[in-house]
Amino acid sequence: MRWAQLVGQNEEYHYSFCAGELVTNSSSHLPLAGQVAVITGAGRGIGRAISIRLAELGAHAVLCGRSRAALEETAAAIANSAGDGSRSDEKSSVIECDVTSLTSVEALAGQIDRNFQRLDILVNNAGIGGDSGPLLQLAPDAWEDVLNTNLRGVYYCIRSLAPLMTKARAGHIINISSLAGKNPVPNMAAYSASKWGLNGLSYSVAEELRPQNIRVSVICPGSVHTDFSPHAGKNSDKMLQANDVAHAVAMIVTQAPQSFASEILLRPTQKP
Ligand SMILES: NC(=O)c1ccc[n+]([C@@H]2O[C@H](COP(=O)([O-])OP(=O)(O)OC[C@H]3O[C@@H](n4cnc5c(N)ncnc54)[C@H](OP(=O)(O)O)[C@@H]3O)[C@@H](O)[C@H]2O)c1
Repeated sequence: MRWAQLVGQNEEYHYSFCAGELVTNSSSHLPLAGQVAVITGAGRGIGRAISIRLAELGAHAVLCGRSRAALEETAAAIANSAGDGSRSDEKSSVIECDVTSLTSVEALAGQIDRNFQRLDILVNNAGIGGDSGPLLQLAPDAWEDVLNTNLRGVYYCIRSLAPLMTKARAGHIINISSLAGKNPVPNMAAYSASKWGLNGLSYSVAEELRPQNIRVSVICPGSVHTDFSPHAGKNSDKMLQANDVAHAVAMIVTQAPQSFASEILLRPTQKP
């Protein structure tokens, strides 16, 4: 017997999740129909899972990252998962973007404005771990790479894309942080610092944008089974999966208008 949990409903739609998968009633509208979502780092791992889930919920997913080939693969997966013969460009768009470059992020924002004239959801997911090792042996360039991607990149994306939301007085911004932003992580100090910084940025800008009806949330997962790092010695069956993070994103973007889940800490049920 399948267990279904009702995770959200409002006057316009009713939907449920079953074992992590969306179950829709054919008579209902998809909850994100007509909405536009930008996902950074959409070509693999967590960003890919989030993109597929948001498209399943009815959003047009704008897939961003540095590698076009990987983004095209996500676009194909979205078209296939729709299974209704729809063209891939109806469900998603691919836009190359390097979040460490303000020029690149501003070009992305310009394209979103020209193509859609709206932005409902921004998922700041792109991130790198950098090399592991003692901080005293970390080269300044390696520090810069991690901080510029994981923290400055999110600032650039919010700076360039949030104006589309403030204009509409609506939107969700979801930052994918980490439990490394809550705990000390020896030998990953730059990564941990970037995620502690991202949490501070998220809580602060959330208060700035709340009066304008924009909800800024942060998700802090523990280790997720992706290509991000080798996760040596961990049992991958017990680890969080990319779809678990996508599920948390889906819950956030399908909340009722008066509800604001500002932070989700995501742990594996059993330590892997
Ligand atoms: N996996 C974990 O254990 C875990 C745990 C907690 C939090 N997280 C966080 O979750 C997020 C995604 O992690 P993941 O596991 O999915 O990692 P992943 O498989 O390595 O994917 C990272 C994505 O970020 C993109 N990216 C990297 N630098 C970029 C840049 N400068 N501009 C645009 N895109 C860039 C990559 O695409 P391109 O290289 O093509 O640009 C790739 O699509 C990260 O923020 C990570 O810190 C991961």
